[in-house]
Amino acid sequence: MSERLEDIAEAMVATGQGILAADESTGTIKKRFDQIGTENTEDNRRDYREMLFRSTEAMNYYISGVILFDETIRQKAADGTPLVELIRKAGAVPGIKVDKGAKPLAGFPGETVTEGLDGLRERLAEYYELGARFAKWRAVIDISEDDGLPSSTCIQANAHALARYAALCQEAGIVPIVEPEILMDGPTAAHDIETCYEVTEWTLNTVFSELFQMDVMLEGIVLKPNMIVPGKNAPIQAAPEEVAELTLRCLKATVPAAVPGIAFLSGGQSDELATEHLHLMNAAGSLPWKLTFSYGRALQQAALKAWGGKPENVAAAQAAFLHRAKMNGLAAKGEWQK
Ligand code: 13P
Repeated sequence: MSERLEDIAEAMVATGQGILAADESTGTIKKRFDQIGTENTEDNRRDYREMLFRSTEAMNYYISGVILFDETIRQKAADGTPLVELIRKAGAVPGIKVDKGAKPLAGFPGETVTEGLDGLRERLAEYYELGARFAKWRAVIDISEDDGLPSSTCIQANAHALARYAALCQEAGIVPIVEPEILMDGPTAAHDIETCYEVTEWTLNTVFSELFQMDVMLEGIVLKPNMIVPGKNAPIQAAPEEVAELTLRCLKATVPAAVPGIAFLSGGQSDELATEHLHLMNAAGSLPWKLTFSYGRALQQAALKAWGGKPENVAAAQAAFLHRAKMNGLAAKGEWQK
């Protein structure tokens, strides 16, 4: 595989393919395992992810890259093959979550700033040696209209950190996934779709301004935004066509055409809606960038449930994963059908 940043980024958003976000921290995967009554042990985490990465058809045809957690990038399959090797053999690019999580922003109650810049240059060099060719950093913006959130300080601080992370990644030969997530399922999450539009537009404009300040090469990044949706608890939910239309409008107004691809997070949308929204956007006509998925929950939920922590369910879980991967692969080409 070529090692130019532009080529790695292109491969990550290859036509009809998208990214599997399997980078749940040990605490987050515990929440997922709790839902299926499975103990959160290192072996179970390995078995679960090995099951996904050995889903040959899904991985070969529909998955362009996999985001890993620090533990996983070092893990070996039960037969001793490094998990990174399984991903590479399937023709997908291994990636790594490098942020250290969203931490309370001092002086701004209810808001967070994502940490992890200290020592990042050294960590990226090690991850490169371990096989990572892209990375992910997630900034979290919460909308709470009663509390006047988000503040411009929160958006600015997170955009600045994203840009410093992105510059360090490119220096290390690693493509940064730039992920500013406006939460749809935050603590209150009753905002309407227009508010999501405004906050996303504001955030993306700030992020691209900071990327420019840090001299980040836009051809060598992948943007991972939220779609424009109302809060989970909003009294009025939106039709899929409205989500698609507003999301496209917002991205066209903020994302330079030099960016090769946009890979959405699912953020708490149902599996099928996450697919339908992506499909509608791709079916709407030609766009300056590729539009695909970088889903965690919307790709894994069905497979996790089918697996249930039991080795005898591996084939059923892989079939469930294949189905979602295939549906999203079709949606990435605007060819999905209900
Ligand atoms: P979801 O698709 O479950 O939102 O996860 C994607 C992700 O990587 C969040 O950082």
